[in-house]
Amino acid sequence: MSPQSGKHRVAVIPGDGIGKEVIPQAVQTIQATGAPVEFTEFDWGADRYLRDGTTVPPDGFAMLGRDYDAILVGAFGDPRVKTNIHAKEILLGMRFKMDLYANVRPVRLFDAGLCPLKGVEPKDIDFVVLRENTEGVYTDAGGVFKQGTADEIATQEDINTRKGVERLIRAGFEYAVASGRKRVTMADKSNAMRHAHELWHRVFFHVAREYPAIEAVHLYVDALCFQLVRDPSQFDVIVTCNLFGDIVTDLGAALQGGLGMAASANIHPAVRGCCAEEHSARRVGLFEPVHGSAPPLAGRDQANPFAAILTVGLLLAHLGWPEERDRLEAVVGRAVAAKRCTPDVGGNLGTRAAGDWVLGELGREFG
Ligand code: NAD
Ligand code: IPM
Ligand code: MN
Repeated sequence: MSPQSGKHRVAVIPGDGIGKEVIPQAVQTIQATGAPVEFTEFDWGADRYLRDGTTVPPDGFAMLGRDYDAILVGAFGDPRVKTNIHAKEILLGMRFKMDLYANVRPVRLFDAGLCPLKGVEPKDIDFVVLRENTEGVYTDAGGVFKQGTADEIATQEDINTRKGVERLIRAGFEYAVASGRKRVTMADKSNAMRHAHELWHRVFFHVAREYPAIEAVHLYVDALCFQLVRDPSQFDVIVTCNLFGDIVTDLGAALQGGLGMAASANIHPAVRGCCAEEHSARRVGLFEPVHGSAPPLAGRDQANPFAAILTVGLLLAHLGWPEERDRLEAVVGRAVAAKRCTPDVGGNLGTRAAGDWVLGELGREFG
């Protein structure tokens, strides 16, 4: 909170493509809830990078950690930046450097009509994926040798530490306990990736012993994908590594109506038994829709703003306003049911009109 204004300070980074269109809708939604929040916008993204070569300004991450209570971002990715260097430095930079080790991605069906599976009701799709967010194949360890020759070699190391694996798994069990869920499923590929993923397997069942009331289930990640489509109702909490979490949450997004409906939080839960001394440090959560910058949709007022608006719900709950999240989710559900939404979820509104419909409903509720 700002000592001057008594408001939560939120850094807003719309980023690239449709991020610039959906984030203003998300910001106006926060304002409509009446939660005491003040915003500061940053222009980090492809345009800035192409203009002056800056991805993250000097001291940028330290400034975010010091001066803000939460960060709201849109998406990063621009066809003009072929290396994707700015996205890696800004987005993965925030996740890694701020040690936001849990990428929490709820998968919830708001309207039966949105699910591509037959006979599935909203009650059947309500689970959350906790994706490890600071290790795995995302650390950039590796290299290329003899580039451009017929003998070229490329390596990409998969980094898995005991501490990193354990804290994510523990956060999954703690999430289950706190939200009254009964089952935690861990997905790995320990039948092929013997060294790295046997660590996941061992640590999972070791931590599970501390949570006898929660059922611990292991699935290989290929079987997880199969089961997610066959019967998603069996899942409560899924914990997995960075890469698999990225992939299965796009599958999850498809189950809930597409990437326009998928929200996420990058946080550093304070769990028992690991990195205890670090928890005296203040951690700032990073909140972002699961989707990317969708270049073909950008600038056309066609992108679905609901993923960003649902992301705002996660942000508000994290700042201590869970009822605001619940109301926001209810309004998004009503918008889809009434077809007051963008074409990807069955309506015929543009980005701004869909966001404004939500705003009008919130005005009635909170006004
Ligand atoms: P994408 O998520 O941008 O788009 C995938 C598909 O979903 C497309 O068909 C797109 O039209 C649709 N879609 C996405 N968001 C939508 C929305 N809000 N409303 C309606 N439809 C939506 O993924 P991509 O095409 O693989 O990647 C495009 C760029 O975004 C790439 O540069 C990629 O690296 C980047 N990206 C960034 C993030 C992030 O910043 N968190 C996430 C994913 C991809
Ligand atoms: C996501 C994205 C990112 C990831 C990309 C843009 C690096 O796909 O947030 O899901 O892989 O984490
Ligand atoms: Mn992704």
